[in-house]
Amino acid sequence: MASKVVRKLPDDLKLGVATAAFQIEGAWSEADKSPSIWDNFCHIPGKIKDGTTADDACKSYNFYKRDIEMLKYLGVDFYRFSISWPRILPNGFADKISESGIEYYNKLIDELLSNKIEPVVTMYHWDLPQNLQDLGGWTNPLMADWFEEYSRVLYKSFGDRIKTWITINEPKQIGLFGYGLKRFAPGINAHGIGEYIAAKNIVLAHAKAWHVYDKEFREKQKGVCGITIATDFREGATSSPADIDAGLDAIQFEVGLYAHPIFSDEGGFPDRVKRLVNKRSKEQGYPKSRLPEFTKDEIEFVKGTSDFYGFNHYSTKFYTRVGFERGMYPEPSYDDDIGAIASYLDYEQGAIPHVTVIPQGIRKALKWVKESYNNPPIMITENGYGTLGGIEDYDRISYFKKYLNCILDAIEIDHCNVLSYTAWSLMDNFEWDSGLSIKFGLFQVDYEDDRRKRTARSSAMWYRNLLSTKTLNLDHVPVLEDISF
Ligand code: NOJ
Repeated sequence: MASKVVRKLPDDLKLGVATAAFQIEGAWSEADKSPSIWDNFCHIPGKIKDGTTADDACKSYNFYKRDIEMLKYLGVDFYRFSISWPRILPNGFADKISESGIEYYNKLIDELLSNKIEPVVTMYHWDLPQNLQDLGGWTNPLMADWFEEYSRVLYKSFGDRIKTWITINEPKQIGLFGYGLKRFAPGINAHGIGEYIAAKNIVLAHAKAWHVYDKEFREKQKGVCGITIATDFREGATSSPADIDAGLDAIQFEVGLYAHPIFSDEGGFPDRVKRLVNKRSKEQGYPKSRLPEFTKDEIEFVKGTSDFYGFNHYSTKFYTRVGFERGMYPEPSYDDDIGAIASYLDYEQGAIPHVTVIPQGIRKALKWVKESYNNPPIMITENGYGTLGGIEDYDRISYFKKYLNCILDAIEIDHCNVLSYTAWSLMDNFEWDSGLSIKFGLFQVDYEDDRRKRTARSSAMWYRNLLSTKTLNLDHVPVLEDISF
């Protein structure tokens, strides 16, 4: 099956592209918007590898209509974008709702709908209002209440037109990179502790927002609400039992920590994570495990609170216990808790390591989700390839082809219930701690140009062809045309 050169996509598989507010909008201090943690973080010298900021980014706040022209050119079924919390609620809290913020997203949503493009909204793609960070951000258990209030404002304001809500994008990256490793905003150095507290509060915040939708809005608005989890695959580096076991531990740390409380029958954090963090905590002299517990009520409250599994996937890492020694990683820490060494083996790494091309990993990850969580409907909410630039991006096309081929295997052979596929990203944008230098776009963005000219790459032509034929042709190489917006 995998060797077929031309494969029809399922008729009902929806195809789209994604972006996120902070990465594209710019207008960081426009009207009454307050700074987000990322606005502040990227203004600190040394935090962003290429020294850039997202103050202007792609200027989509001004040029969203051109983004929609690009979406029309591609012929997508839907557009996944995110809403900036501090643009809607400048105080973080729901005491003050910004009229101009609401107006901006109303215009964007209405323009999409009038062009027959379905808007798919992420409520939180990492740009927390700084005011809430000053109160502890995701380490404060009250965040769940504040997120609930924010979600209610969004359902009330936009829910008449939004039928797919994604509460939170990639909890691991928020918690581990933001509160454990200092790589991401807010840059807190509390490894082995901060990421676990954040994990619990993020999961509870998601569940609260889902319950609000379910109780107060679903009947009338008739949409769905779920969470997106980074589901890169993790497996043993060799077939030795110790390495296989390390792989099984690692996938629970990577994915299960967030998915198990929501999607499993038993709920709560996964046993493997509980066992390992508890053991290390004891050895380190902590009176209690560094991993917080969910109460019985919380376990019940969280279970089953996602109408679909939002699945982001880029690559696979391999784990071995051979050569692992205590002291290799800071203590306490997430990596030390896993107790194994991770690598991409000898797969050739891309411009950013997490796009190392390992297509069979996406099939394994989809199957793992199916088998672990009772075959949930899966929306692939991100998949894509980052480069250092270039208009004729055959490496990106090759990545997409290989990954889609494996997704089709997952659908046809493993019977995974995949509803949609989303390419990351519509255009180049601010790639977090890598700044503007890493390019994920089907469209290139000229940051030197005041109007941020967007030029179609070969991959834009390729994706357009995929969408119009609904066929994956592994041999198809598009001819580059001169198209810009
Ligand atoms: C996942 C994140 O959701 C997105 O914001 C990021 O740009 C991509 N990965 C690529 O790294």
